[in-house]
Amino acid sequence: MHKDLRLNDGSDLPALGFGLYKVAPEVTGEVVVAGFEAGYRLVDGAEFYHNESEVGEGLRRVDRDLLTVTSKFWGEESQDRDAVLRAFDASESALGTSIDVYMIHWPRPKRNQYVDVWRTLVELRDQGRVRTIGVSNFAQPHLERLIDETGVVPAVNQVESHPWLPQHDLRAFHDANDIITQAWSPLGRGRLLADPTIGQIADRVGVSPAQVIIRWHLQLGGALIPKSTNPERLRENLDVYGFELTDADMAAIAGLETGERTGTHPDDRN
Ligand code: A2P
Repeated sequence: MHKDLRLNDGSDLPALGFGLYKVAPEVTGEVVVAGFEAGYRLVDGAEFYHNESEVGEGLRRVDRDLLTVTSKFWGEESQDRDAVLRAFDASESALGTSIDVYMIHWPRPKRNQYVDVWRTLVELRDQGRVRTIGVSNFAQPHLERLIDETGVVPAVNQVESHPWLPQHDLRAFHDANDIITQAWSPLGRGRLLADPTIGQIADRVGVSPAQVIIRWHLQLGGALIPKSTNPERLRENLDVYGFELTDADMAAIAGLETGERTGTHPDDRN
């Protein structure tokens, strides 16, 4: 079962995908096949995950055309136009297939080059080499600069978000500008699964803590990429369309906000 969200470029993005960060190369192909067989229609990868050729091996074993394939520009060495184009080509050739969604992985604001990187992504899209372009780990001021200086609004911003870090302000900015929020570490790297409030809701509804949190993301209107290397948990995380959280559940989960991050702050990666 899967549902799509409509993007500002007119295409559809599966609301639930599966993430491949920190998935070891030796199991990546299997995880891609297991994810596809579980019913996922979006694979979230990146150059930085160092497993793109193994993702490609997995993609050759499934009906690739049913999947949305994401990659991201890392840009640690250089962020020049040539570096972006080279990285895009390298990811495509590692994957052995076209990229559907290409993102700037981090704004790297101290380098102050992300607007130019964005122009190169716009060029790739305008040439028809990629369907959708987006960003990741962008804070509101970074998004405002892209929009002001290029007039092209990213279709997606993939950011850390989970009940400790719901990102309400950023989500409101996204909603006002027709940007889809796609959450990474949506389960707080799994740490939120032991939360007693989540546990109580899960027990009452008769679902798992992971399913409660995933449903919370979907009811906020966002997309997400929970990570699991286990076929059973991959299936469990997709089986979230047969129940609904009440307003009281949503409010109880909103009460868990602490601002705690499990990953890096957007301003802190140079
Ligand atoms: P595993 O890969 O063994 O399933 P996040 O997506 O927030 O980064 O969280 C990923 C972590 O949560 C991983 O450690 C993953 O472990 C675990 N996880 C993912 N889905 C579930 C689930 N349904 N039940 C329990 N743990 C899960």
